[in-house]
Amino acid sequence: MAGIYIHIPFCSQFCSYCDFYSVKQTQNIDQYIKALEKEIVIRSNDFKMRGLTVGTIYFGGGTPSLIKTASLKRILRAIQDNYPFSPGGAYEVTIEVNPDDITPLYLDGLKECGFNRLSMGIQSFSDNHLRWMNRRHDAQTAIMAFQMAREAGFLNISTDLIFGFEMLSESEWRENIQKTISLNPEHISAYQISIERGTTLYKNYVKGEYIAPADESSAKQYQILQKELSKAGYIQYEVSSFCKPGHHSGHNSSYWDFTPYFGFGPSAHSFDGTKRQRNFSSLAKYIKASESGGKFGTSHKHSAKERFNEFIMLSLRKTEGIDRAHLEKFYKNFVTAEFIKELDKLTESGFLIEERGKIRIPPEHLFVSDGIIRDLFA
Ligand SMILES: C[S@@+](CC[C@H](N)C(=O)[O-])C[C@H]1O[C@@H](n2cnc3c(N)ncnc32)[C@H](O)[C@@H]1O
Ligand code: SF4
Repeated sequence: MAGIYIHIPFCSQFCSYCDFYSVKQTQNIDQYIKALEKEIVIRSNDFKMRGLTVGTIYFGGGTPSLIKTASLKRILRAIQDNYPFSPGGAYEVTIEVNPDDITPLYLDGLKECGFNRLSMGIQSFSDNHLRWMNRRHDAQTAIMAFQMAREAGFLNISTDLIFGFEMLSESEWRENIQKTISLNPEHISAYQISIERGTTLYKNYVKGEYIAPADESSAKQYQILQKELSKAGYIQYEVSSFCKPGHHSGHNSSYWDFTPYFGFGPSAHSFDGTKRQRNFSSLAKYIKASESGGKFGTSHKHSAKERFNEFIMLSLRKTEGIDRAHLEKFYKNFVTAEFIKELDKLTESGFLIEERGKIRIPPEHLFVSDGIIRDLFA
């Protein structure tokens, strides 16, 4: 089984906090689709040689919903025509959509293409917050987009929220959570805002015009999130991911479970089971590579130490945690006396729990998971 990720590097407006690779020149979309089809075809031999089969497809961005459904269909056809699919079907085919791109006609087109899961970037239900984020939509547009998606027959929808920014009060955060719950999505991703270099948020932060809230305040918001979503029947299965039973994101889970995935488009990442590849974060360079049949990016084989650190990080981000038997079997050189001592220390202080062969971070400490994970690195 493997995942396929397609990066759509276009946004008509940039959000103040986002540093995902994306450009505004939407006049290049058609040329980009052609380049993408080429990459999909060129790399298919590599995929087949490894005996992989497609289990999930994910269109992320940038803004995939800026692309006409006829073009999305062409990309999907290139995958269907060149890649073997996992036997048995039940494929998860997701597209990230921005609420203001949604119309009944567009949704019908997405259905016809074969998309069966939407990931909707709502972020907040406050128009004030949305303006501050420089989002294109307002709260009412988001609610209508969600309802339209239901009416169009989408039964698997994820919504994204952001917390931990200066102007978000506790009561507004509670309201954002309640409004999300009232829409009843199958999946919710909630991200603590991060200040990324090169973004407007970063510039404002450096100038002292944006003051990041205290960690305790973001930790409290995270705690409220966990409590309210749990009461509403959502299961937390990863640091930022919550779902109704049976609705975890199959595609994202492949990143955390070391399932291979092939990513196409500028800045897309791939993991073929041994090597990591990162495509160039430049649309011009990417289009050139497709025309010359050259390299789309650089690849890197992780050292044993990098693989171990990655295993610790990805496993502990999941609420399921680390499988102790797997750790001892495949990473035995790193299970040193020093590592065991650190593990015991974290367990004694309650930052880790070991139960039924799994080592995990309990929900009340997931907010500080990064620090716990770093303590265990080789
Ligand atoms: C990169 S966007 C792509 C999908 C779509 N364009 C959208 O905005 O929803 C995917 C998710 O990453 C989140 N994101 C991007 N930068 C972030 C940051 N610095 N901190 C927290 N979340 C961020 C976005 O808000 C969105 O929910
Ligand atoms: S959050 Fe989404 S819409 Fe906003 S700049 Fe990033 S990719 Fe574009």
